[in-house]
Amino acid sequence: MRKIFLTAALLAAFPAMAQTPAPGGGDTGGGIVRAAKPVTGEQVYGAVCQACHMADAKGGVGAGTIPALASNPKLAGAAYPIMVVAQGQGAMPGFVGTLSNAQMAEAITYVRTHFGNAYAKPVTEADVAKFAKPPSAGGH
Ligand code: HEC
Repeated sequence: MRKIFLTAALLAAFPAMAQTPAPGGGDTGGGIVRAAKPVTGEQVYGAVCQACHMADAKGGVGAGTIPALASNPKLAGAAYPIMVVAQGQGAMPGFVGTLSNAQMAEAITYVRTHFGNAYAKPVTEADVAKFAKPPSAGGH
């Protein structure tokens, strides 16, 4: 059910992203830049996270409770949001296999530095890699 919702959100979002030139897309540090996919943290947030957490990151209560990411002290440490985003928690799906480590890092950095959060230290692709266990071994 949630997988279907997420897939629909992604399908709806990506064609729109494809038409938007990626500002600064070349310097994400991820090394892999695919123009048709969201690259910056803001783009990943808009394409993926926003569907649940809302554009203002204040979350909401509907079919389930979506916690606010805005002004959220749980984002002060990087490990917690990395784990939640990579592996999922409760009703939130994990994004390993859906987003690249670089995309997760950008999105987490984005929410930790916006919406009333000011946790300056960026989350890197390598930070995410420590928590992101690939769904199957033998990937590259
Ligand atoms: C399908 C809906 C959905 C999507 C998409 C989604 N989230 Fe979530 N998120 C949730 C729910 C539900 C929770 C609460 C999980 C729990 O603790 O039970 C949550 C929790 C979180 C938390 C922990 C907040 C806290 O206070 O404990 C973070 C951080 C987070 N999400 C970040 C993100 C980011 C970044 C993205 C985009 C890459 C994202 N989420 C995409 C539904 C979603």
